Amino acid sequence: MSEAPFTLRIARPDDANRVQDVLAASYSTLYRGWYRDEILAAALPLMTRARPELLASGRYFLCQWQGRAIACGGWSFANPRGGADAGRGHIRHFGTHPDFTGRGAASAMVERCLGEARAGGCMEMECLASLTAEAFYAGRGFKTVAPTSISVGGAAFACMLMRREL
Ligand SMILES: CC(C)(COP(=O)(O)OP(=O)(O)OC[C@H]1O[C@@H](n2cnc3c(N)ncnc32)[C@H](O)[C@@H]1OP(=O)(O)O)[C@@H](O)C(=O)NCCC(=O)NCCS
Repeated sequence: MSEAPFTLRIARPDDANRVQDVLAASYSTLYRGWYRDEILAAALPLMTRARPELLASGRYFLCQWQGRAIACGGWSFANPRGGADAGRGHIRHFGTHPDFTGRGAASAMVERCLGEARAGGCMEMECLASLTAEAFYAGRGFKTVAPTSISVGGAAFACMLMRREL
């Protein structure tokens, strides 16, 4: 019998360290070459911190393989830049451990997020995609709206505003 590639479950507040470990491994490895070292040095300490509001929301997920956390991500009604937009959900804080990319973990979580947002009355999903992840989200049906940036740790972190209909 073949082994399941990973399990997917809702994350809880006590998963904060697992989430942080996955994000730190993911971003510190997979963003290299896409962002300048000084941008990463300023942004990553803040960007890799697990967000308590996401962990408590029931809309944030953790993929595990043999008991080990390998990927995380979720969605919210809240816009990460503040406020909320009627009928629009927001993809939040995705990352896959670099040793476990290409196994479908992030795709499975995106599918879960899209289905839940649709069921929750959203007509559109928005994403502030890292430059690294633009092609990944394009493969999940998102279209690039505009290049933009977010301010993290005093650094301007370039990203792509992307959206898809639900
Ligand atoms: C983008 C990211 C979340 C994708 O995670 P993942 O778990 O590898 O994604 P999947 O396994 O579901 O892969 C889905 C697609 O991405 C491709 N892919 C992404 N990274 C890959 C890698 N390192 N090696 C091989 N394929 C990769 C797969 O081939 C697949 O393409 P396809 O379905 O069109 O054939 C991951 O690369 C990552 O953590 N990147 C750094 C952090 C980041 O950018 N997060 C998003 C913030 S907005």
